[in-house]
Amino acid sequence: MLALKQKKKKPCYSEIVGLVEMSKKRNEDAWDKLTEHYQGSRRISLENYHYGAYAPGENELGIIGDVDGLDILEIGCGGGQNSIVLKKQGARRVIGLDQSENQLKHARYLAERVGTEVQFIKCDMEDLTIFGNTSFDLIVSSHAMNYAFDLDRVLRECNRVLKPRGRIVTCISHPLWIVLGDVLENDDFSRLVNYFDGFDDIWDWEGYEQQKIATFHGFHRYIFPLNASS
Ligand SMILES: C[S@@+](CC[C@H](N)C(=O)[O-])C[C@H]1O[C@@H](n2cnc3c(N)ncnc32)[C@H](O)[C@@H]1O
Repeated sequence: MLALKQKKKKPCYSEIVGLVEMSKKRNEDAWDKLTEHYQGSRRISLENYHYGAYAPGENELGIIGDVDGLDILEIGCGGGQNSIVLKKQGARRVIGLDQSENQLKHARYLAERVGTEVQFIKCDMEDLTIFGNTSFDLIVSSHAMNYAFDLDRVLRECNRVLKPRGRIVTCISHPLWIVLGDVLENDDFSRLVNYFDGFDDIWDWEGYEQQKIATFHGFHRYIFPLNASS
């Protein structure tokens, strides 16, 4: 049985580029490894844009609204379900990008299965240079921006590729989930962390040949740049 284990650690805002690059590669490898489990263990809707495993979807929340005729970029599209939903709902063009080739393979498989035309591209969200300025009306991202090493850079790039008055709709886990999820899943209060600590999470998935680790950066790094960028 596959176990998901989180370890908390203090912030590691490394300035050492080599280390960041190494971690990026590790994240990419981790998601390549995780695709089968992630896609096999979740039932992500192809009808309702999803905001996460325990959250209501777009049909209930109505945050994105009408996408008819829009050019849309999804960042960290994973298995592509949200991109497919938006295209089915009338978007003019949808591009889903992800760093993981295996996630993208799953996305292409799903799009073909439901007969929806979405372009899925391997790309690091921190470098959107393959897209011109003012290319998109809307950028969406569900539980992916929290893997960015340099969120400011991601947001600057989003700002560049968005059309004037374009929108970003993004979501990450609620801080309480990060603080309590591990405790509740393992019934172990020694895993409780301080809500106000700016910790990063290291996720390791047991059951693989080697434990593959993805770094999930603490929410504190996201709240401030997101607020600052309005
Ligand atoms: C938790 S999954 C979410 C996938 C999808 N949005 C969903 O809701 O099912 C996070 C995704 O972000 C991708 N990701 C992480 N860092 C990335 C980066 N720097 N550039 C592009 N994609 C990245 C991972 O490969 C993974 O597919």
